Amino acid sequence: MCGIVGYIGPRDATPIVLNGLKRLEYRGYDSAGLAVLQNGSIAVRRDAGKLDRLIDLVGQSPISGAPGIGHTRWATHGAPSARNAHPHLGSTGRVVVVHNGIVENFLELRDELTAEGVNFNSETDTETIVHLVEHYLATGLNLTEAARKTFLDIQGAHGIVLMSADEPDKIVCARLGNAGGVVVGLGEGENYIASDIPAILEHTRQVIFLESHQMAVVTREGARVESLEGKPVQAEVHSVSWDPVAAEKGEFRHFMQKEIHEQVRSLTDTLAGRVDFENGRIRLPELNLSPELAQRITKIFITACGTAAYAGMVGKYLIEKIARLPVELEIGSEFRYRDPIIDENTVVLAISQSGETADTLAAMEEGRRKGAVLWSIVNAIGSQAMRIADGYISMQTGPEIGVASTKAFTAPLVDLYMLAVLLAELRGVIDEQTRRNLVADLRFVPDLASRALNTEPIVEKVAWALKDVRDCLYLGRGINMPIAYEGALKLKEISYIHAEGYPAGEMKHGPIALIDRDMPVVCLAPRDPWYEKMISQIQQAKARGGTVVAVATEGDELVGGMADHIIPVPEAPWMLSPVVTVIPLQMLAYHIAAIRGLDVDQPRNLAKSVTVE
Ligand code: AGP
Repeated sequence: MCGIVGYIGPRDATPIVLNGLKRLEYRGYDSAGLAVLQNGSIAVRRDAGKLDRLIDLVGQSPISGAPGIGHTRWATHGAPSARNAHPHLGSTGRVVVVHNGIVENFLELRDELTAEGVNFNSETDTETIVHLVEHYLATGLNLTEAARKTFLDIQGAHGIVLMSADEPDKIVCARLGNAGGVVVGLGEGENYIASDIPAILEHTRQVIFLESHQMAVVTREGARVESLEGKPVQAEVHSVSWDPVAAEKGEFRHFMQKEIHEQVRSLTDTLAGRVDFENGRIRLPELNLSPELAQRITKIFITACGTAAYAGMVGKYLIEKIARLPVELEIGSEFRYRDPIIDENTVVLAISQSGETADTLAAMEEGRRKGAVLWSIVNAIGSQAMRIADGYISMQTGPEIGVASTKAFTAPLVDLYMLAVLLAELRGVIDEQTRRNLVADLRFVPDLASRALNTEPIVEKVAWALKDVRDCLYLGRGINMPIAYEGALKLKEISYIHAEGYPAGEMKHGPIALIDRDMPVVCLAPRDPWYEKMISQIQQAKARGGTVVAVATEGDELVGGMADHIIPVPEAPWMLSPVVTVIPLQMLAYHIAAIRGLDVDQPRNLAKSVTVE
């Protein structure tokens, strides 16, 4: 998610905007910029890198004036660079915009605007917004009406703030869909706009939260809120009591919990602009996957570390099942020591949230050395794993602050599913109806995640029951076997409880000797093709006195009657079921660690990105 700050009033906007952006640094970003109205013109300073770089830039080449707007960007379309950084000026230089979200129909809009003779200066989807506003201004509309028309034209979830040198008495902002918030802060003869409360708390605690599909015209005197259709809204003014640090986490105690709950948004975003539901097709333009390449690939080698590797294990099931393409999986730290069998028809697919994990990068280098095609699925745009790949898929989850990866685990599950469908189509191994059905199932993903999140009260009760255990087994089969590994890793890394993920079918070959009343067993038993096998697994664990926690499809009375604790998840297409089965396990690990009073966001001995081998 990007950070946004705006100011309109008698003071110089520059320091207010820069300080506000500083308060939003926790959100993570890779470029920053601001624009102020200076002597009747719009002055912009922006660059890739951190805020200190921008502050230096402003120090070397000062700008001052008001109103002003600023932005910290987490790149989704277009690598972090000065020309892709916000704010974006239109062709006239009289209108400027900052934006949070993804313009899902930006390709079509850019084509239409280019056909009208508009020149684009960046690779961003955001630039289509400012050119569209200028397009409507040129028809004689004022800024408010031109902005309204633009807001109605663009698809997706957005927070948008824009201003014009020709109407310096206002800033126009809007919230479309469930994008990160747009907050209007009310002062005395001056007013503020921000994507998050911490940016303006030092100035005011009186705030208006824009709801989805609302816009506001903010002047020195106040804010007029209305629906996009122009219907006035009597917006409630809230008095914020949060302290700035608490405000950064919103209503959550830790970033990890916040990010677990952001998964409805992050899954929506990872799908954004990539799924053509009407024609049942997937588009992954940054992957540079031609039909020729798709047809000549003979093997995909997935390589990653930790949680990302478990996402890769799910990817193996998906790609082999849907695209009928052989997939090998090797963890990054082992890859190059096994002299992998690779040729020019092999794809090495790296999965990495940070895109900077040394073991994963080393595996990519080995793949390159052996002539493989390199792909990556990354969250950090501009990271090494993105830059060295021949093609990539961005997770588009926004920054993940908690060391324990959550939303950057479920997003690649969906990215791998989309990749499998695209490969299947280009390799001609799937008929149209099957492809349409697989694509249609993606529509349910955000809602399935939302319903899985609703089990939190039940999960919290289970956490209280397990909070003092010393060991724990996680069992799964088939596509949910990797979720057993991932659930165990979550518990290990933030609660320091020894936990082990295991293929359920392997238990009878030795590990079942471990089970007794002191060894709780978490069983993943959703209604998937391995359901019956998991039923007998639960019976075996119970027969040995084990305490069983079952993640099962809601309404499953059979499992409910057998398990000691039941966590119900919504029924999901089995190839997407890992998205719903992992969420309760993320919450279980979180609540156990929180109950134990541990540092959930910064667990001992761990780093968010392991950039050493
Ligand atoms: C997951 O919760 C851990 N933080 C860790 O296993 C992580 O997934 C691994 O280090 C890989 O990181 P990456 O995705 O940034 O490459």
